[in-house]
Amino acid sequence: MKKKFYITTPIYYPSDNLHIGHCYTTIIADCLARYKRMRGYDVRFLTGTDEHGEKLEKAALERGMEPLTYIDGIVDNIKELWKTLEISNDDFIRTTQTRHKEAVQKIFTKFLEKDDVYLGKYEGNYCIPCESFWTDSQLDEDGNCPDCHRPVEYRVEESYFFKMSKYVDRLVKYYQDHPTFIEPKERENEMLTNFINPGLEDLSVSRTSFAWGIPIVENPHHVIYVWIDALANYITALGYLSDDDSLFQKYWNNDDVEILQLVGKEIVRFHTIYWPIMLMSLGIRLPNKVYGHGWLIMKDGKMSKSKGNVVKPEKLISRYGNDALRHYVLSQIILGNDGTYTPELFIDCVNTDLANKLGNLLNRTVSMVDKYFDGHIKDSGIKNEFDEKLVQQAHLTLKNYESCMDAYHIDKANHEIFDLVNALNKYIDDTKPWVLGKDETKQPELENVLMSLCRGIYQVGIMLQPFLLNASAKIFEQLNVSDYQYEHVYDFNFNKEFNVVKGEPLFNRLDVNEELNYLTGNENE
Ligand code: ME8
Repeated sequence: MKKKFYITTPIYYPSDNLHIGHCYTTIIADCLARYKRMRGYDVRFLTGTDEHGEKLEKAALERGMEPLTYIDGIVDNIKELWKTLEISNDDFIRTTQTRHKEAVQKIFTKFLEKDDVYLGKYEGNYCIPCESFWTDSQLDEDGNCPDCHRPVEYRVEESYFFKMSKYVDRLVKYYQDHPTFIEPKERENEMLTNFINPGLEDLSVSRTSFAWGIPIVENPHHVIYVWIDALANYITALGYLSDDDSLFQKYWNNDDVEILQLVGKEIVRFHTIYWPIMLMSLGIRLPNKVYGHGWLIMKDGKMSKSKGNVVKPEKLISRYGNDALRHYVLSQIILGNDGTYTPELFIDCVNTDLANKLGNLLNRTVSMVDKYFDGHIKDSGIKNEFDEKLVQQAHLTLKNYESCMDAYHIDKANHEIFDLVNALNKYIDDTKPWVLGKDETKQPELENVLMSLCRGIYQVGIMLQPFLLNASAKIFEQLNVSDYQYEHVYDFNFNKEFNVVKGEPLFNRLDVNEELNYLTGNENE
């Protein structure tokens, strides 16, 4: 039976169009989903939108619109963006969909039946942008929200509360028994030090001050707290508590599934404290891992809609293509750490890795096969002194690539591939095919060099498939191979001949000044 993999992104707030920070999360998820599929897993990949709550109600009202009318437009743009980026999600959940709302109501009923929620009164500091209550001691030194540092409002409200304390010991035990549940590890320490060890307070899980949410069936005057509503998406999208829960049974409710939840570091708290407790209350298994990745930051701090310092993905994609954006976020940001976006770095990344290293390697190789052998080469049975080292390097790269990808260390895996690209470029320098090409008697040696290059590029192409969608396809087109299953990747000699078809360069070298003008200017906004 195929191994199963369920991967989710956070569901994004459609309060405004998304920026490249959101693309970062979705691209990581897409890369891992594609990798797992390539390795033969049965993959389910979910993304979607988080459409309730006061923030969205406000965003719509400010524009004089009904919430859903406003949200529908943004959600269409988000779906279009994922389509443009060729994101391979299997489902897109909207929390305003009936399938989700009904299931969330049933989930809340289960909490009530289990006596895990009770009706009380909330007095405290509320941050609308973060949709979070904070105690006085949690506020920052200016009395603002400790997450986003914006002012909070003091509120008194009747509210349902979830008995978090009932589950806290089990949660801590779960962390201890599953030391890789939260990654990077320091985020687990943050959760323990900042939230759990000081005493986890019961969580307010309903609101009466606005209506844009899912009403509690037993007391419709209350809407369910947007985070409870949103977190549930990961299982409601699989049909949990619906008439047909086969997807839930397949991709969640059995220990065979590897479940990975990718989230930005600012929402690790919700995913590693409240979400596991919700699952414990419902009596269902927890994910294998919550990976809290870092932020894409600009010179003036985190890229965020509310700060207004965003880079629109469309601006990059329309001029440089998907692969350039994918490569930037997948190679330049160490998963778990923050990474910087600057136009200079972006241009440099395209020029150095994509145009110079990868693009040139393919272009030089295919051109030489064309020039010296009319496009057709085969195994000449000859080896040179650099061949064995190259084959060993390719083998090592593959091993490292797999172990990095299996541990979700995408950036490291990407560097492994580019190390092989570097080794292949060095192989050209070492073997000097242009010198061999001048000597008629060295034809078999030259043919061997070009075979080795094409074979190495073939392996690079296979490993690049989850990373560079267009470039990997172009590599196979120019090498003119139709069988690029992962199972062949360890067999350096799998291809016995190549009939190459020279094509356009994979990436054009960018003119730095011209592109800086474009990237820092306001045209095409
Ligand atoms: O938090 N760098 O939605 P959201 C990297 N609806 N990633 C970034 C980023 C940046 N500058 N900015 C945003 C919500 N992200 C909730 C989630 S889940 C049940 C509910 C990414 O629209 C990152 O993954 O604010 C972050 O966690 C997510 O977008 C937040 O998106």
